[in-house]
Amino acid sequence: MNIVSLLGSARKNGTSARIARSFTSTAATYGATVTEYPLNTMQYRGCQGCEGCHTRSDRCVLRDDATAALDQLYHADIVVFAAPVYFGDTCGQFKSFYDRMWSLLRTDTEEEYSRLPPGKTALLILTQVDRADAHSDVAKRYTRTLELYGFTVHTLIGAGLRLQPNTDIDSYLQAATALARELMRSE
Ligand SMILES: Cc1cc2nc3c(=O)[nH]c(=O)nc-3n(C[C@H](O)[C@H](O)[C@H](O)COP(=O)(O)O)c2cc1C
Repeated sequence: MNIVSLLGSARKNGTSARIARSFTSTAATYGATVTEYPLNTMQYRGCQGCEGCHTRSDRCVLRDDATAALDQLYHADIVVFAAPVYFGDTCGQFKSFYDRMWSLLRTDTEEEYSRLPPGKTALLILTQVDRADAHSDVAKRYTRTLELYGFTVHTLIGAGLRLQPNTDIDSYLQAATALARELMRSE
């Protein structure tokens, strides 16, 4: 089992990263291989809208730190997409990477949009200070696009999570662990 974990927050041990690691570290105890991409430490540009990925190439034509992570998505069984909610969307680092995933879609067809092989699972982790239903549109929108790529999507919304280090996230860590066990046992 190959897991790619995309960590959007600049906070290395912030709430979204900790919940993501609760999932991946549990999966690793079942034998999964985990590759983590801390997006904030990587140098990459946002999508240029050049359409090189649909004309000159079947991959994103930009060459930077996002290239390897995008390539890894072809080989992943599970992809963790973890980001804090900033002003009603995902944080910028995450969104810039997400836009580069345009290169994983085909645009020459009315169906079967994804260039990714089928059968992949996504875990979307969104953390926020507001209550759980405050940004349900964010989870809905990202779920819809992840489904376009063919992912079976699980979502974990961490609500009421402040930026302070003493924020209690235990219930979310446990939920991530439980989901990892469930997914790994069903393999
Ligand atoms: C620039 C900025 C914008 C934010 N915007 C929102 C928001 O719109 N809604 C919300 O509920 N929380 C918002 N927050 C709070 C974070 O989403 C929340 O504390 C989250 O748990 C942080 O995740 P992290 O620890 O993984 O970075 C914002 C925080 C920052 C720094």
